[in-house]
Amino acid sequence: MKTLMAANWKMYKNKEEASATLADLALRLTALPQNREVVVFAPFTALSACSSALADNSHIALGGQNCYPAAEGAFTGEISPTMLLNCGCAWVLAGHSERRSLIGETDVFVGKKTAYALNAGLNVVLCIGETSGERDSGKLTDVLVRQLEAGLADISTDIAAERIALAYEPVWAIGTGRVAGPTEIAESHAVVRNFLKKRLPRQSQDIRILYGGSVKPENTKEIMTLDNVNGVLVGGASLQAESFSRIVLA
Ligand code: PGA
Repeated sequence: MKTLMAANWKMYKNKEEASATLADLALRLTALPQNREVVVFAPFTALSACSSALADNSHIALGGQNCYPAAEGAFTGEISPTMLLNCGCAWVLAGHSERRSLIGETDVFVGKKTAYALNAGLNVVLCIGETSGERDSGKLTDVLVRQLEAGLADISTDIAAERIALAYEPVWAIGTGRVAGPTEIAESHAVVRNFLKKRLPRQSQDIRILYGGSVKPENTKEIMTLDNVNGVLVGGASLQAESFSRIVLA
Protein backbone atom coordinates (compact mmCIF):
# COMPACT_ATOMS: atom_id res chain seq x y z
CA MET A 1 0.00 0.00 0.00
CA LYS A 2 1.34 3.45 -0.88
CA THR A 3 0.99 6.07 1.81
CA LEU A 4 -1.17 8.99 0.73
CA MET A 5 0.19 12.47 1.46
CA ALA A 6 -2.52 15.05 0.78
CA ALA A 7 -2.48 18.86 0.73
CA ASN A 8 -5.69 20.79 1.38
CA TRP A 9 -5.20 24.37 0.20
CA LYS A 10 -8.67 25.44 1.35
CA MET A 11 -9.62 28.98 0.16
CA TYR A 12 -6.03 30.10 -0.41
CA LYS A 13 -4.08 30.95 -3.58
CA ASN A 14 -5.13 32.47 -6.89
CA LYS A 15 -4.36 30.51 -10.03
CA GLU A 16 -0.88 32.02 -10.51
CA GLU A 17 0.10 31.33 -6.90
CA ALA A 18 -1.34 27.82 -7.02
CA SER A 19 0.38 26.79 -10.24
CA ALA A 20 3.70 28.30 -9.09
CA THR A 21 3.53 26.41 -5.78
CA LEU A 22 2.67 23.20 -7.59
CA ALA A 23 5.51 23.57 -10.09
CA ASP A 24 7.89 24.18 -7.17
CA LEU A 25 6.49 21.13 -5.35
CA ALA A 26 6.85 18.93 -8.44
CA LEU A 27 10.53 19.91 -8.68
CA ARG A 28 11.15 19.13 -5.02
CA LEU A 29 9.42 15.75 -5.40
CA THR A 30 11.16 14.54 -8.55
CA ALA A 31 12.64 11.67 -6.58
CA LEU A 32 9.39 10.68 -4.89
CA PRO A 33 9.80 7.30 -3.19
CA GLN A 34 7.76 4.48 -4.78
CA ASN A 35 5.75 4.01 -1.60
CA ARG A 36 4.35 7.56 -1.52
CA GLU A 37 1.34 8.97 -3.38
CA VAL A 38 0.71 12.74 -3.40
CA VAL A 39 -2.50 14.65 -4.03
CA VAL A 40 -3.14 18.39 -3.85
CA PHE A 41 -6.68 19.66 -3.23
CA ALA A 42 -6.60 23.10 -4.86
CA PRO A 43 -9.38 25.73 -5.10
CA PHE A 44 -11.72 25.26 -8.09
CA THR A 45 -10.54 28.44 -9.78
CA ALA A 46 -6.94 27.20 -9.84
CA LEU A 47 -7.56 23.62 -11.00
CA SER A 48 -7.05 24.12 -14.74
CA ALA A 49 -3.89 26.17 -14.19
CA CYS A 50 -2.62 23.52 -11.77
CA SER A 51 -3.39 20.78 -14.24
CA SER A 52 -1.35 22.59 -16.91
CA ALA A 53 1.49 23.17 -14.43
CA LEU A 54 1.60 19.43 -13.80
CA ALA A 55 1.31 18.43 -17.45
CA ASP A 56 4.25 16.03 -17.53
CA ASN A 57 4.38 15.21 -13.87
CA SER A 58 2.79 11.97 -12.85
CA HIS A 59 4.02 12.20 -9.26
CA ILE A 60 1.30 14.55 -8.11
CA ALA A 61 -2.44 14.13 -8.51
CA LEU A 62 -4.96 16.92 -8.36
CA GLY A 63 -8.20 17.03 -6.38
CA GLY A 64 -11.25 19.25 -5.87
CA GLN A 65 -12.28 20.24 -2.35
CA ASN A 66 -15.97 19.58 -2.86
CA CYS A 67 -18.55 18.40 -5.40
CA TYR A 68 -22.30 18.10 -5.77
CA PRO A 69 -23.92 14.71 -6.32
CA ALA A 70 -25.38 15.31 -9.78
CA ALA A 71 -24.03 15.26 -13.34
CA GLU A 72 -25.30 18.76 -14.17
CA GLY A 73 -28.34 20.92 -13.55
CA ALA A 74 -29.77 23.94 -11.80
CA PHE A 75 -27.44 23.86 -8.78
CA THR A 76 -26.11 27.40 -8.62
CA GLY A 77 -22.66 27.62 -7.15
CA GLU A 78 -22.06 23.89 -7.16
CA ILE A 79 -19.66 21.79 -9.21
CA SER A 80 -20.05 18.25 -10.55
CA PRO A 81 -17.58 15.35 -10.39
CA THR A 82 -17.47 15.36 -14.21
CA MET A 83 -16.40 19.01 -14.17
CA LEU A 84 -13.61 18.15 -11.75
CA LEU A 85 -12.48 15.27 -13.97
CA ASN A 86 -12.56 17.68 -16.90
CA CYS A 87 -10.17 20.02 -15.04
CA GLY A 88 -7.65 17.25 -14.47
CA CYS A 89 -8.76 16.05 -11.04
CA ALA A 90 -8.49 12.45 -9.95
CA TRP A 91 -9.66 13.05 -6.38
CA VAL A 92 -12.24 14.95 -4.34
CA LEU A 93 -12.66 15.66 -0.63
CA ALA A 94 -15.96 14.88 1.07
CA GLY A 95 -17.16 15.82 4.53
CA HIS A 96 -14.38 18.16 5.63
CA SER A 97 -15.31 19.48 9.07
CA GLU A 98 -15.28 23.08 7.79
CA ARG A 99 -18.02 22.17 5.32
CA ARG A 100 -19.94 20.24 7.94
CA SER A 101 -19.82 23.12 10.43
CA LEU A 102 -19.77 26.26 8.24
CA ILE A 103 -21.94 25.12 5.33
CA GLY A 104 -24.13 22.73 7.31
CA GLU A 105 -23.41 19.53 5.38
CA THR A 106 -25.07 16.54 7.02
CA ASP A 107 -23.67 13.03 7.40
CA VAL A 108 -26.24 11.76 4.89
CA PHE A 109 -25.41 14.41 2.28
CA VAL A 110 -21.71 13.64 2.66
CA GLY A 111 -22.53 9.98 2.01
CA LYS A 112 -24.44 10.84 -1.16
CA LYS A 113 -21.50 12.87 -2.46
CA THR A 114 -19.04 10.12 -1.64
CA ALA A 115 -20.97 7.44 -3.51
CA TYR A 116 -21.79 9.73 -6.43
CA ALA A 117 -18.20 10.92 -6.87
CA LEU A 118 -16.84 7.35 -6.76
CA ASN A 119 -19.39 6.22 -9.36
CA ALA A 120 -18.47 9.20 -11.53
CA GLY A 121 -14.83 8.09 -11.55
CA LEU A 122 -13.22 10.29 -8.89
CA ASN A 123 -11.31 8.89 -5.93
CA VAL A 124 -12.54 10.20 -2.59
CA VAL A 125 -10.98 11.24 0.71
CA LEU A 126 -13.86 11.09 3.18
CA CYS A 127 -13.17 13.22 6.27
CA ILE A 128 -14.51 12.44 9.72
CA GLY A 129 -13.73 13.69 13.20
CA GLU A 130 -15.13 14.69 16.56
CA THR A 131 -15.35 18.07 18.26
CA SER A 132 -13.63 18.57 21.60
CA GLY A 133 -17.05 18.54 23.32
CA GLU A 134 -17.89 15.18 21.78
CA ARG A 135 -14.53 13.73 22.81
CA ASP A 136 -14.79 15.12 26.34
CA SER A 137 -18.24 13.61 26.81
CA GLY A 138 -17.05 10.14 25.79
CA LYS A 139 -18.76 10.11 22.40
CA LEU A 140 -15.67 9.61 20.21
CA THR A 141 -16.56 6.13 18.92
CA ASP A 142 -20.25 6.96 18.46
CA VAL A 143 -19.46 10.06 16.41
CA LEU A 144 -16.88 8.37 14.20
CA VAL A 145 -19.09 5.32 13.59
CA ARG A 146 -22.10 7.54 12.82
CA GLN A 147 -20.09 9.57 10.27
CA LEU A 148 -18.60 6.42 8.76
CA GLU A 149 -21.96 4.63 8.50
CA ALA A 150 -23.59 7.54 6.68
CA GLY A 151 -20.48 8.45 4.71
CA LEU A 152 -20.04 4.96 3.29
CA ALA A 153 -23.73 4.01 3.22
CA ASP A 154 -24.16 3.92 -0.55
CA ILE A 155 -20.75 2.85 -1.78
CA SER A 156 -20.29 -0.36 -3.73
CA THR A 157 -18.83 -3.31 -1.83
CA ASP A 158 -16.66 -3.90 -4.92
CA ILE A 159 -14.86 -0.57 -4.59
CA ALA A 160 -11.09 -0.79 -5.16
CA ALA A 161 -9.30 -0.06 -1.89
CA GLU A 162 -7.01 2.58 -3.40
CA ARG A 163 -10.00 4.66 -4.61
CA ILE A 164 -11.24 5.66 -1.17
CA ALA A 165 -9.34 6.96 1.84
CA LEU A 166 -10.64 8.02 5.24
CA ALA A 167 -9.17 11.09 6.89
CA TYR A 168 -9.48 11.24 10.66
CA GLU A 169 -9.34 14.94 11.56
CA PRO A 170 -10.28 15.84 15.12
CA VAL A 171 -12.02 19.22 14.79
CA TRP A 172 -10.10 20.58 17.79
CA ALA A 173 -6.77 19.91 16.04
CA ILE A 174 -7.53 21.59 12.70
CA GLY A 175 -5.66 24.85 12.25
CA THR A 176 -5.15 25.17 16.00
CA GLY A 177 -1.55 24.03 16.30
CA ARG A 178 -2.84 21.41 18.77
CA VAL A 179 -1.94 18.09 17.21
CA ALA A 180 -3.64 14.98 18.57
CA GLY A 181 -1.33 12.81 20.67
CA PRO A 182 -0.16 9.33 19.60
CA THR A 183 -2.69 7.58 21.84
CA GLU A 184 -5.57 9.70 20.59
CA ILE A 185 -4.61 9.13 16.95
CA ALA A 186 -4.05 5.38 17.35
CA GLU A 187 -7.34 4.98 19.25
CA SER A 188 -9.38 6.77 16.58
CA HIS A 189 -7.66 5.06 13.66
CA ALA A 190 -8.40 1.68 15.30
CA VAL A 191 -12.10 2.63 15.44
CA VAL A 192 -11.99 3.39 11.71
CA ARG A 193 -10.12 0.16 10.83
CA ASN A 194 -12.55 -1.93 12.88
CA PHE A 195 -15.50 -0.28 11.18
CA LEU A 196 -13.95 -1.02 7.76
CA LYS A 197 -13.50 -4.68 8.71
CA LYS A 198 -17.26 -4.94 9.09
CA ARG A 199 -18.36 -2.68 6.23
CA LEU A 200 -15.77 -3.60 3.57
CA PRO A 201 -14.06 -6.75 4.89
CA ARG A 202 -12.24 -7.57 1.66
CA GLN A 203 -10.66 -4.11 1.27
CA SER A 204 -10.44 -3.18 4.95
CA GLN A 205 -6.68 -3.67 5.43
CA ASP A 206 -5.80 -1.82 2.24
CA ILE A 207 -7.97 1.27 2.61
CA ARG A 208 -5.78 4.16 3.68
CA ILE A 209 -6.57 6.03 6.87
CA LEU A 210 -5.03 9.51 6.98
CA TYR A 211 -4.50 11.73 9.99
CA GLY A 212 -5.19 15.45 9.68
CA GLY A 213 -4.93 18.35 12.13
CA SER A 214 -1.86 20.57 12.59
CA VAL A 215 0.48 18.20 10.73
CA LYS A 216 3.91 19.83 10.18
CA PRO A 217 7.29 18.72 8.87
CA GLU A 218 8.42 18.34 12.50
CA ASN A 219 5.68 15.93 13.61
CA THR A 220 5.01 13.92 10.44
CA LYS A 221 7.53 11.16 10.99
CA GLU A 222 6.19 10.28 14.42
CA ILE A 223 2.57 10.37 13.25
CA MET A 224 3.37 8.13 10.27
CA THR A 225 4.80 5.41 12.54
CA LEU A 226 1.53 4.97 14.46
CA ASP A 227 -0.67 1.93 13.90
CA ASN A 228 -3.21 2.32 11.10
CA VAL A 229 -1.82 5.67 9.92
CA ASN A 230 -1.39 5.42 6.15
CA GLY A 231 -0.95 9.07 5.26
CA VAL A 232 -1.74 12.64 6.24
CA LEU A 233 -4.10 15.42 5.16
CA VAL A 234 -2.38 18.75 5.64
CA GLY A 235 -3.85 22.26 5.64
CA GLY A 236 -1.67 25.18 6.76
CA ALA A 237 1.69 23.45 6.35
CA SER A 238 0.85 22.40 2.78
CA LEU A 239 0.63 25.96 1.46
CA GLN A 240 4.39 26.25 0.90
CA ALA A 241 6.12 23.75 -1.37
CA GLU A 242 9.13 23.73 0.93
CA SER A 243 7.18 22.64 3.98
CA PHE A 244 4.80 20.23 2.22
CA SER A 245 7.67 18.52 0.38
CA ARG A 246 9.37 17.92 3.74
CA ILE A 247 6.15 16.35 5.01
CA VAL A 248 5.85 14.12 1.92
CA LEU A 249 9.46 12.98 2.24
CA ALA A 250 9.48 12.66 6.06
P1 PGA B 1 -4.41 22.02 9.34
O1 PGA B 1 -5.72 21.60 8.49
O2 PGA B 1 -3.28 21.12 8.85
O3 PGA B 1 -4.18 23.46 9.00
O4 PGA B 1 -4.72 21.78 10.77
C1 PGA B 1 -5.99 20.25 8.19
C2 PGA B 1 -7.26 20.16 7.38
O5 PGA B 1 -8.17 20.96 7.59
O6 PGA B 1 -7.39 19.28 6.51
